[in-house]
Amino acid sequence: MLTHCGAHIDFATVNVSSPNTEKLRDLQGKSALSALLAGVMQARADLERSIPVFLKIAPDLTDAELAEIAEVAIESQIDGIITTNTTLSRDGLTSSDRDQAGGLSGKPLFEKSTRVLARMSQLTDGNLPLIGVGGISTAEDAYAKICAGANAVQLYTALVFGGLSLAEDVVRGLDKLLERDGFANVADAVGTKRADWL
Ligand SMILES: Cc1cc2nc3c(=O)[nH]c(=O)nc-3n(C[C@H](O)[C@H](O)[C@H](O)COP(=O)(O)O)c2cc1C
Repeated sequence: MLTHCGAHIDFATVNVSSPNTEKLRDLQGKSALSALLAGVMQARADLERSIPVFLKIAPDLTDAELAEIAEVAIESQIDGIITTNTTLSRDGLTSSDRDQAGGLSGKPLFEKSTRVLARMSQLTDGNLPLIGVGGISTAEDAYAKICAGANAVQLYTALVFGGLSLAEDVVRGLDKLLERDGFANVADAVGTKRADWL
């Protein structure tokens, strides 16, 4: 896939975390992941121009699994980890729709995905850029992800409710929050509240 698309894309994400594809998550295991990333990195090396490669992980991983992924990700020399995809968990939900199959996104995912982000930040110890995603719908949410260890953030579900202008609202809100707390830029705030999520 990368061989064919590489010339036309700005980055690639190895998504081994969608709960909607049977057995896909099995690729998060150490040996399968190591082999997969080795193949992807070789395909990238063969491209005429280099593009960043990210790994996207699930929020439902155990601590031991996260540690293995961190090790493989660093060894493979990928460019970063996207934490996280949707969750299989329905904890705390009271809706009659709670037992529907598939991955859950949006607000109920925020805490769980932020905890995984903080743990991954601790495990990689600043050696790998992290992209925080999961339940961000406000500048405060984006700021919390950054302070938990994210170098960048993504929004998905909230765009359905807030539209594309939400991205601008989040960026402007972030500026104010950084200024309020005396940070000159996003980089200075990264991981400053990581311990709160561990
Ligand atoms: C309907 C839907 C489709 C998705 N499709 C993909 C996908 O194809 N690849 C992927 O990596 N993540 C996919 N995701 C996961 C999102 O990119 C995101 O990681 C997740 O929804 C958590 O962020 P959010 O709470 O802001 O939505 C999908 C999520 C939803 C709700």
